[in-house]
This record gives sequence, C-alpha cells and structure tokens, in this order.
Amino acid sequence: MGAVAHGGHCVARHEGRVVFVRHGLPGERVVVRVTEDRHPGFCRADAVEVLEASSARVERPCPHSGPGRCGGCDWQHVDPAEQRRLKAAVVREQLSRLAGLDVDVPVEELPGGPLRWRSRARFAVDRTGAAGLRRHRSHDVVVLDDCPITEESAAAAVLRRPWPGAGAVDVSVDSTGAVTTTRLDRRGRPTSSRVVRPGGALPEEPAGRAERRAGGRDWEVEGTGFWQVHPAAADALVAAVSAFADVRAGETVLDLYAGAGLFGGALAPAVGPTGRVVCVESDPGACAAADANLSGFPQAEVWQGDVDAEGLAGLLADLGTAPDVVVLDPPRAGAGREVSRLLAGTGARAVVYVACDPAALARDLAAVTGEGYRLAGIRGFDAFPMTAHVECVALLVR
Ligand SMILES: C[S@@+](CC[C@H](N)C(=O)[O-])C[C@H]1O[C@@H](n2cnc3c(N)ncnc32)[C@H](O)[C@@H]1O
Repeated sequence: MGAVAHGGHCVARHEGRVVFVRHGLPGERVVVRVTEDRHPGFCRADAVEVLEASSARVERPCPHSGPGRCGGCDWQHVDPAEQRRLKAAVVREQLSRLAGLDVDVPVEELPGGPLRWRSRARFAVDRTGAAGLRRHRSHDVVVLDDCPITEESAAAAVLRRPWPGAGAVDVSVDSTGAVTTTRLDRRGRPTSSRVVRPGGALPEEPAGRAERRAGGRDWEVEGTGFWQVHPAAADALVAAVSAFADVRAGETVLDLYAGAGLFGGALAPAVGPTGRVVCVESDPGACAAADANLSGFPQAEVWQGDVDAEGLAGLLADLGTAPDVVVLDPPRAGAGREVSRLLAGTGARAVVYVACDPAALARDLAAVTGEGYRLAGIRGFDAFPMTAHVECVALLVR
C-alpha cells in the first residue's frame, strides 16, 4: 500500500484503478473489502486482514473502532508519533500540489496524550433514542457506551442514556468542569440546552455561558458554541498566532471568523490604546461572547457579519484604514479565492492564517501568494489525535 492521502486513507492500486484504503498503513500488505464502488476511476475499501504489518501498527485502544465500525477516528491503529509524521506528509503534499510550495511542516504534539482530549463533540442519535457516532460515510449510528477520545465527563453525559426524539446531541466540558449538553432535532436545530456543574447544588440547570482558559486568561463562550476542541489547542494557537503576527503598538488588526474573540482578544493588549482590533464573526451568540471577552479593551470592537467577497469588501470600506495585520481562522472549507484575493489587496504587512484543513489552506495560500505575498512561516499542531485532522498556522508577508 502506498502513501497516506488527505482524508487519512492509503492509496493503493488494483488493475489500473486507485483504491482508497482505510485502516491500513503505508508499506503494508493487506486484504481489503471494497466498501464503495461508484466511480470509474477509484473505489474505497477497508483493510480487513493484515498480511505484512507496518512497525507503526498498534492495538486499537478503542474497542469500537475498526473496519465497518465507528467512523469517528481514522488512526486508532497507528502509533501516535507516526500519526504526526503521516499528517506532516499530507500537509507537505497538499501545499506542493495545490499551492506549488515546497515546505516541511513538522506536526507538533500537544500536551495531554492521544485519548480524552475531545472537550466538545456532536453525537448522533438513532431512531430508538440511543446515542453514538456514525459509521464512516454512512448515516447509520453505531451506538456507543464510551468514546475514549472524548473527555470522560462529556462522554458520560451523553452516552448510556436515552435521548428520545433527538437527532443529535452536542456536548462540551469547560475549564471549570461544567458539562453542557444541547439537544438537536432531526433537522439539526437546537431545541434545549442544559448544564451540569461539578458539585453544583442543582443536578441540572438551563445552559448559559461556559468558561474557557487560554493565553493566561479566562474566556466566555456559549455553552456548546465554538471553541478549540483540544484543551491545549487554544493556548498553542494563541502563542503561534501572536509570534507570527508580532503586533506592535498602534497597529490595526483584523480578526476574521473570530468566534468568541480568542485571537483578537489575545492581540488587543499588544496594539495598546492607540491601536485597533476588529473581530468579525457571523454567529450572534459568538459575537455576544466576544463582546464580553473584549469589554476590557476600548481599542477592540466586534462586528457581526459574513466574511464573504461582498461582506469583506464592505467591511474593508467601513474600516476606513488598511489593516496592518489580518488573522483569519475560517471553517473547514477555507476562506475561498475571492476573500483571499481581497485580503491580499489590503496590503497588510502580515496575514496569519489558521486552518483545520490543509487542502483548503493550500488553495487559499495559492490565491494569496499569487498576489504579492510569500509564505514566511508555517507550523502544524496535532490538535485531533487518532484522526487524520491537523491544525496549521501560516504566516504570509509581502
Ligand atoms: C474555526 S472557528 C474560529 C473561531 C476562533 N478563531 C477560535 O479559535 O475560537 C470559525 C468561526 O467562523 C465563524 N464563521 C463561519 N462562517 C463565517 C463567515 N462567512 N463569516 C464570518 N464568520 C464565519 C463561525 O461561526 C466560527 O465561529
């Protein structure tokens, strides 16, 4: 079997066709079972028997993972250090193929080990009300009694209890240990939210704000609203973004896709009272949290709006002055070519791009580097152990 590709499967060939194989490792000889065959050029398969094993293969710590089982993890069968090497290879390949960049990006380990790191998760609920996770590329729910990559209290709050009538349940555990669950209907709309506090007088109360700690301070977040999933990720990303941005007093910083204002809030002290930080976020609940998190900084503002080609053009006009530094942390699909080009057009001295998908990152970097910027630094973080996902932070300068 050949190299690992974006998505975590190995690329193999059979009778001229590409086979994307899950549950294998590069260099292994395996017997596969085809799981999907709908395309003339390729099919998908699971490695169901290992004939020649890689030295990086390990016993799966999770009893629910494996061919045909829970689709939550890609690499339970891979030694964690090798997982990081595989992620680095995928980032390198995506940057080379999609952005023409030849760069090594070692993927750094975060503290805490490969299990129990997931502080936020969405579990699916089947028609009987039982909670679990979906099978890979399927709507079937694999009912779980535990999820070993999820923090214990969060997994216990959702699994092994019935959720009649729900379509899914979001759960998050904050830095005080409070566990918030949000029930979603079958169309994915939130219907109710509850919080259980450790040692609280009430067993359950309506959800409010959660508390998270990063960059040496506390942050307010909506109960199950966006926050970095790995408990060490926010700290690591704030440190990486701050070092790359190297913000100076009096500068103007744009924090796009700002969530609860993590990066804008971390950079606000550095611009000082003569500078300006503008956080832009589309979600009203996240904007309210960002307002609270930035309330101590008169130089910081939160704007609710969409970062798309039209929205960004208006936003840059409203800003009235060119930003010195732009930080962006878009969702998985990336910012897109138009937004990337508009950002390059601002002439900002530094663009710091935080990305959870190396393919989207590479496509957006290609757009920015085509407009007079060059990649001056990039780091990778293993913020999602046991999965093929990786977080990157890139610095672009003119
Ligand atoms: C990956 S999160 C980053 C949040 C924040 N930087 C953090 O690390 O906590 C992406 C954020 O972008 C927001 N978002 C998604 N699409 C957006 C858009 N088109 N315009 C503005 N914000 C958007 C989401 O609501 C989410 O809060």
